[in-house]
Parts: sequence; C-alpha cells; structure tokens
Amino acid sequence: MLEKIKYLENEIKGYLIDKTQDIETFRLKYISKKGVLNELFDEFKAESVEDKKIIGKSLNELKQLAEAKFKELSEKLESSSQTSPSAIDLSLPPVSDKTGNLHPLNLTRYKIIEIFERLGFSVADGPEIEDDWHNFSALNFPENHPAREMQDTFFVEKNPDMLLRTHTSNVQIRLMEKQKPPIRSIMPGRVYRNEAISARAHCFFHQIEGLYVDKNVGFADLKQTLFNFAKEMYGKDIEIRFRPSFFPFTEPSAEIDITCLICHGKGCNVCKHSGWVEIAGSGMVHPNVLKNCGIDPEEYTGFAFGMGVERVTQLRYGVNDLRLYSENDVRFLKQFKAVI
Ligand code: PHE
Repeated sequence: MLEKIKYLENEIKGYLIDKTQDIETFRLKYISKKGVLNELFDEFKAESVEDKKIIGKSLNELKQLAEAKFKELSEKLESSSQTSPSAIDLSLPPVSDKTGNLHPLNLTRYKIIEIFERLGFSVADGPEIEDDWHNFSALNFPENHPAREMQDTFFVEKNPDMLLRTHTSNVQIRLMEKQKPPIRSIMPGRVYRNEAISARAHCFFHQIEGLYVDKNVGFADLKQTLFNFAKEMYGKDIEIRFRPSFFPFTEPSAEIDITCLICHGKGCNVCKHSGWVEIAGSGMVHPNVLKNCGIDPEEYTGFAFGMGVERVTQLRYGVNDLRLYSENDVRFLKQFKAVI
C-alpha cells in the first residue's frame, strides 16, 4: 500500500492542466467520493494495527497533498482566464484567413475524373518508375522507336531496363494483364520526358489516359465518349474534330482537337493561328497490344485515349506558361481559390 501511496503522490505532484475539464477530471479521480483516495481509505481499514500506524500518516499526507493541489490548480486556471482588458487591442485588424486551395492541375484532374466516372470509368494507378515492357514493348513500340532514345526518355543508369514512364499507358498494360474485359478505366498520373524546359514544354507533366475494352467496342464509342467529355469540360458550344494520326499502340489513331478557347477560333499564338488546339491522342487498341496482355483480339476490341492535364488546364484558365505550375509561386496559385 505504501508503494501505491508513493506512486499517487508523484502523479499528483506532476499533474498539469490547461482546460477547465482537466480540473474536474482531477477532482473525480482523486478527491471525489468515488476517487482513488477514498478507495485507499477503505483498503486502509483492513490493515493490521501496526501497519495502520505506518500507513496512516502517509495516507493523510497524500490527502492533504491532493486537496492543496486541487486548490492550486483552480486558482491558476481562474487567474489565466481573466485577461486584463488592456491586453486586447480592439483596433488591430483581424488575422486574415489563410486557408489554402487546390492546385489548378488538381482542380482540372478532379473535374476530368468526375466526368469520366459518370460514364462508368473507374480510376487506376500504376508505377512512375517502369520497365521497358510496360512502357514500350507491350505497347507495340518497335525496337528502334525514337522514344526509346536517351534524348527522349529518362533511363535509370544502374538498370537500363528501367525508366521514368513517358506516358500513363503503362497502367493500361498492367490493367489488361491482370483483369479480364470488360475494362473501363482512366489513369491519371505524372509522366516524364527529356525535354528542355520552356513555356511550352517541361521534363515532367501530367496525363490522364483512358481505356475501354469489351466485346463490340467501336470507333463510334470512342468518338461519342470524347465528344461528351469535351462538352462537359468546356461547354456545349465547343466544336470537336478528329484528325488521323499515328501511335504504335492504336490502329486507327486520331488526334482530337477542340475550338481554341483562347481566341475562340479566330486564330492566336496558342492555336498557331489555326483556330483549333489539340487536347488528346486516341485510337482503337492495336490487336498486338491486346495479344501481349493475353486478350484475344478476335473476341474483344477497345479504344484508348490520352490527354495532358496541363493543356486542359491551360484552356480552362488561360494559363500560357507551363513553368508556372511547378514554380510554387503563391501569387499564381492563390488565383484558383474560387474556381472548383
Ligand atoms: N500515350 C500517348 C501519348 O503519351 C497518348 C495516347 C493514349 C494516344 C492512348 C492514343 C491512345 O502521347
């Protein structure tokens, strides 16, 4: 019992408070009817006469200590809650609201995801440090494709089979390898290319790719999906056009352009005076890509598309220098506070 008393003594001496509740907790724990001190007094009754002599004194001292501490804590709390009127200067301007806001690229990313989710697309993720197979070979890139050159792709020095993904198409391969169709997903993420940094290019940027593989998926589905996306993203008056193009992993392939929102089709620097800006690459998934992932191209077909989040954001908010996105200048970032 003496040990218990010693332990409680230390506990009481070291008790700290900063709120009114703390003092009530103290009272309940130590000095109320159901508190530990009363419990000890009950235990005390059962001790032998000799022990009572030794323990009694310590127990009484503990009780006095608890009561003194309670008084001290109450006084302390009371004096700290009484701030003198002169300490508050009512003429000072209020502390301004410093809540942050989402980065413009995230605002756009969320918006794109929301549009495709409504069309039944799920969101998939994958690694940024990727092997050659998932970034190139499985996507039907020939051995000597220029993207595989050191000048275009960042390779990992210690293991040249590993690289920083150049697009999020690696996630398409990973999805098809592990999942049977139907597959309907979008893949947002950061990608890397060895480019000199300028207003129009950066060594990293963000993409959102999409993949839909099932029985009887056709080019009309691709067109309608992206048509719908453009209207949802930029409003119903937007014009969209498909231009024939080439990607090793899609056949046929098309580049997707929309009316330039900077000049509204009149011609400006951003659209190189054509009135149109490219927003995405797309096409029907090449049969070789399906085969590489163990999907029978006789049974299934699919479409894929990929867009740059920076480009979509540029058209949405009129940002015309890519570098602004990663310079972390608060004057730029805080302008997007209200736009969600
Ligand atoms: N992966 C392509 C790129 O990064 C975009 C794309 C995706 C094109 C899917 C067609 C189909 O440029």
